Formats: sequence, C-alpha cells, structure tokens
Amino acid sequence: MTQLNFDKTAEPNVNTTADLAQYLLKPLVIGSRTISNRMVLAPMAGLGHIAFRQLVTGFSGFGLLFTGMCSAKAVPHENPKMSHVFSWRPEELDHTVCQIFGAEPEIMARAAQRVEAEGFFGVDLNFGCSVAAICKKGCGAALLKTPDKAVDIVSAVRKSVSCPVFVKFRTGWRDDQNFPVTMARAFENAGADALTFHPRVAPDRRSRRPKWELIGKVQNAVAIPVFGNGNLFAPEHGIRMIRETGCQGLSIGRMAVAQPWIFARWTKGFRPEPSIYMETALDMARLLSTHYEDHFALKMFKKFAPYFCANFKFSNSILKSLIRAENMNELCDNIRQLMDPPPQTLLLPNINLFI
Ligand SMILES: Cc1cc2nc3c(=O)[nH]c(=O)nc-3n(C[C@H](O)[C@H](O)[C@H](O)COP(=O)(O)O)c2cc1C
Repeated sequence: MTQLNFDKTAEPNVNTTADLAQYLLKPLVIGSRTISNRMVLAPMAGLGHIAFRQLVTGFSGFGLLFTGMCSAKAVPHENPKMSHVFSWRPEELDHTVCQIFGAEPEIMARAAQRVEAEGFFGVDLNFGCSVAAICKKGCGAALLKTPDKAVDIVSAVRKSVSCPVFVKFRTGWRDDQNFPVTMARAFENAGADALTFHPRVAPDRRSRRPKWELIGKVQNAVAIPVFGNGNLFAPEHGIRMIRETGCQGLSIGRMAVAQPWIFARWTKGFRPEPSIYMETALDMARLLSTHYEDHFALKMFKKFAPYFCANFKFSNSILKSLIRAENMNELCDNIRQLMDPPPQTLLLPNINLFI
C-alpha cells in the first residue's frame, strides 16, 4: 500500500470560504510530484483545449489543468502542430495532465510514454466517459464492465512511465456502492498515484444528482489522493464536498467553463467586475483564433457559449444572438453588442444550459 502523505483520518475543518481557500492551498503529494493547490480543471473534450486552458491560466488560482481526452491510438504519432486535441503551450506542461482513452494496455502504455516524454505533469486514464462512440470501442466507462482489463491498463501504464498516473472513473454501470470502492483499491494496487471520482452511474450522464457520499467511501478505501468531482458550482458546494467526503482535492468541470476565474475566486479571493464577461468572451475568441483556423475557432466558441451564457438572466436569448455568426469577426461584433453594457447576471448560472 502507498505510504500516506497526509492524514486521511483527520476530519477537514472547512466551514467558511477562507477555510476552503486554505484547504485548497495545502500542498499535496501525487506520486513523485507535489502540487501547491488542490483545485483542478476537469478533463472536458471540446472545452478544455489549448485556448481554454490559456484563458484559465490568465486568471490563475488552480493546481492542475487536465486536457480533454486524447486517443491513445493516435497519441504516439500525433503532430501537436496539426492536432486540435493533443496540443499544448510549453509553459503549461509542468502543471498540465494529459488524459488518454483506449481499450488495450499496450496501446495505453505507449501513449503514456509519449505524454511523459513531452514533459506533461502526468497522465490521466479515462475510465469514465459514457458517450456511445467511446464505449462502443471498449474505451472510457466501458472498461468498468471489464474491471480486470481496466486494472491491467493501470499496471501497464504504471510500468511504462515514472510521472504521476491518474485514473478518472465513475460509479460504474449499476448503482452498486461496493463496486467503486473495489475498483479504487484495485487501481491503487496497480500503481495509480491519484484518483478522480465522479459518483454517477454510466447511463446517467449528467442528468441526475451525483452521489457525493460515494466519494467519501472511495476516499476512505485508499491511501492515495482522491479528487471529488460532480456539480461543484459554488464555494458552499466545495466546502460541503470536502466536509462530507474528506476528499483531498476538487475537480471542476462545467462551472469552470461558465466562469474561468472560478479557481482564482475560490483560492485567491478574486472578485470579478461586471466588465469581466465581455473581456473574457473577447479573450476566448482571441485565443481560439490564435490557436485554430477561423472555422474551427468558431465551432469551439459555439461549444463554450452555452456554459458562458448560463451566467446571464436572459441566457437563452443572449446565447441565440451571440452564436448567430458566420466567422470570428462577426462573433466579436456580437460579443461587443451583447455584453456592453454587461447583461444582468444570475446568482448561480442557469444549469439547464450545462449540456
Ligand atoms: C462537454 C464535456 C466533455 C467532457 N469530456 C470529458 C473527457 O474528455 N474526459 C473525462 O474524463 N470527462 C469528461 N467530461 C466529464 C467531466 O470531466 C466531469 O466529470 C463532469 O462534467 C462532471 O463535473 P462538473 O459537474 O464539474 O461539470 C466531460 C464533460 C463535459 C460537459
């Protein structure tokens, strides 16, 4: 069993937003490395690309950034200059984890070697994605139907790299509380350095409430750090998840797309001004245009827009007007027209737009 690098038995004394920041800023050992901030960007295909990660970096306040999932079959020979997914800025490598998906131990191990050779902080294995196209190939959450194979993948990756190995997984395919606990222990024994656990069964996708109590069970079962994930939208949620589950870190997905400054807000007390919406939307557009050709940049902005517009009182109509654009120039005109003066915002984003 891995040696404990923190006291898992101590109940986290996290009651206020100041306590939350203090907890999130405690160093955490992950395998051979240490991070100084436990609040991380969750992997999100089509959203967590190089441009979005640069946008989040501008606000700072996070510990790690996870890429969207990259095909393990493609990674060993992928050209980062051509790939929309397997691409990065050199300066982000030391705090970025590359997520890979695949179905075979040797293929995942070879991809992990490339990830390590490029200098990423670590590699993350996707055992959580329940999208049909991924599961049909025996990847993502489908591997939770063949637990031995999932564990073989962790062992093979562990043997092939020395950088931190993360595993992201979910409850499984049935509402069985013991299954994620058994899997967590097996992943740890196979050499995983940290787990991100999303407590939903696979067919649920993101529709029903995640069962945070399962994060506590997974956390109690292993000595390695566990990042809790699922429906963290406001600091109160972060406080409650840490108190109720004792998880060592927080992994934030959709809310980080709505508010890329969320990390700075929770860990550094950053207070956004009303002008932040127009500035951030224009920055997102500029960064997408820096990294991608116009057509793809527009496509990626249209994926980002529903989450971002969820901040506004009239989110649906603003979203509709915002994305009525044929190119990035038109899009930037729309941003200026719709966000100056700033639209009325909601206390909590309209999560009906969180698709
Ligand atoms: C558009 C989208 C793409 C996602 N892609 C991935 C992915 O590539 N790999 C992965 O492990 N999880 C993926 N997820 C799941 C998130 O990492 C996360 O588990 C989920 O959104 C719940 O966290 P949240 O409530 O903070 O958003 C994706 C989620 C969304 C919304």
